[in-house]
Amino acid sequence: MKQLATDFVVVGSGLAGLQTAWQLAQYGEVLLFTGAEEEAGNSFRAQGGIAAAVGKEDSPDLHREDTLRTGAGMCNEHAVDVLVKEGPHVVEGLYKLGIPFDRTETGWALGREGSHSVSRILHASGDATGAVMVQTLLEHIRKHSRIQILAHTRVTDLVAEEGECYGVLATNGQEDMVCSARAVVLATGGCGQVFRYTTNDPMITGDGLAMAYRAGAVLRDMEFIQFHPTALAVEQNPMFLISEAVRGEGGILINDDGEAFMERYHDWKDLAPRDVVARAIYQEMQEGRKVFLDGRRLQCTFSERFPTIYAHCLANGIDPERDPIPVTPVAHFLMGGIQTDTFGRSTVHRLFAVGEVACTGVHGANRLASNSLLEGVVFARRVAEAAQSLSPQKHSSLPTVDLNRCKREQNQSLEVCTIRQLMWEYAGIIRDRDGLMYALDALKAIGKDLSKRDCIGQNMITVSQIILESALYRRESRGGHYRRDYPIERKIWGNRRTWVRRGEPVE
Ligand code: SIN
Repeated sequence: MKQLATDFVVVGSGLAGLQTAWQLAQYGEVLLFTGAEEEAGNSFRAQGGIAAAVGKEDSPDLHREDTLRTGAGMCNEHAVDVLVKEGPHVVEGLYKLGIPFDRTETGWALGREGSHSVSRILHASGDATGAVMVQTLLEHIRKHSRIQILAHTRVTDLVAEEGECYGVLATNGQEDMVCSARAVVLATGGCGQVFRYTTNDPMITGDGLAMAYRAGAVLRDMEFIQFHPTALAVEQNPMFLISEAVRGEGGILINDDGEAFMERYHDWKDLAPRDVVARAIYQEMQEGRKVFLDGRRLQCTFSERFPTIYAHCLANGIDPERDPIPVTPVAHFLMGGIQTDTFGRSTVHRLFAVGEVACTGVHGANRLASNSLLEGVVFARRVAEAAQSLSPQKHSSLPTVDLNRCKREQNQSLEVCTIRQLMWEYAGIIRDRDGLMYALDALKAIGKDLSKRDCIGQNMITVSQIILESALYRRESRGGHYRRDYPIERKIWGNRRTWVRRGEPVE
C-alpha cells in the first residue's frame, strides 16, 4: 500500500473540483483524484450554461426570486443570497481567466431557460459550455506546480474516525494507496447512475455520498431528484441531453397529435419549471402519446447555436432543422446531498463537499436551470477559504483502516442493472408508498447477493436506500419529489428538511 500525504485532497474533476483545487493551491499542495480521465464527468457534458445576473435587465434580487420560487419553498435563503450575489463577480473572474463566454456586439450573449424570468445564461461555443469551462480550467491546473492530478484513480473510502476525516483510500487498479490530508473535499457529483435513464456520466454512482454517509456525515433532502424533461429518446447510457436552452430559443414541445401540449399544464408553457415539464411529458406518454421537441422555427439557426446537439441528432438520423426531436424525461440532478454550510463544511470535521454532492440547500426542492455550474464555482472559493484555515492534522499516522474493503468494480453487473431499473420504476418521476416499499425490500435482497467488494454496487445500494427512505418519509409532493398517494404540496412539510445519518432513521 502506497502512503501519500498532502495538504488538501480534492475528489472529482468536474467544475467544482477543479475550481476548488485551483483556489486551494494558493494555500498548499493539492492532490486531485479522479476515477477516469480528467474530462469525464457531468460538468463536461453541461450544455445550457451558467446562470448569473450579469444582464442589463437583471439583478441578483431577480435571480434570487427565480431561484426561491423554483425551489418550492425549500431553499436555504442565505445560501441563495451567496449564490446570486457572488455569482456575477465569480463569473467575471472566470472570463478573465480565459473562459470564452459567447458575446454579442453589445455584451454577453445570454440564453433563457425554464423558470428564469429574464435571459441570464452565459454559454460558450454555443452549447459546449461545460466542456469549454473544464478544458480552460484544466489547462491552468496542469501547469500549476502545487496541483497534482491522479487520473484513473478512484477514491474508495474516507479514512475517518469519531467525527473527523484524516484522508482517503484510493486505487488505480494496479496499486492501492492511502493519502492523509489536512482537509478532504468531495466534489464527486450526484448519483444519476442509480437510475436506469439518466444524463449523468457513467462515473456518477453516488460514491461521494455513500463514503460520507459511512464516515458519519449527515445527508439531507435526498428525496429531491430533478428529472430533466428532454433527453433524446434514443436508449443509451448516458442519455443525450437536449438542452433547455433550445426551448429558450423558441423550441416547442409537441405530442404526436401535433399539439403544443404545455399550454394545458402551466402558464409558462415550455419554460415552466423542470419538474412541471417533466411530469407533463410523462403524463402525455402514460396516455400513449409520443413527445417531440420542435426546434424547426427557432429565433436562431439551430446548427449554429447548438452545434453539439445538432451533430448528435444527425448521427442518430434526426435533422433538428427538418424533424421534431423525439424526447423523454430522465434523471438529471440531485438537489440533496451531504449537508454543508455555505463554506462547504460537512458535519464531519475536515470533510468538505462542493457542487452537486453537497447540499447547502441552495436548490431547495427543485433546481433552477443552470444554477449548478454557478453553485460549483461560487462555493468552491468558500470551501478553499475555510479549508486553508484548518490547523494541520495532529495525528502523525492515520487511524487503522480496512484496506481490503473495496477493490473490485462491477459497474454493469446484473445487480447494478437491477438497482437502476428498480430506482427508475419506483423512485422515478411518480412515486407512491407501495412502490417505494417494494423497491426497498428488493434492494435488501440484492444487497445480500452483492459481493462486499463490489464497491460501486455497494455505494449504489446505500444511496438508493437513502433516496427511497427519504421519499417514503416525505408524505407530500413538492418540486422534484412527486407522490401519487400524496399529490398535494402540504404546508406542514414546508419547513421540514429530511436528514439522515448512519445508524439513525431518516427524519
Ligand atoms: C440544460 O442545458 O438543459 C441543462 C442545464 C442544467 O441542468 O442546468
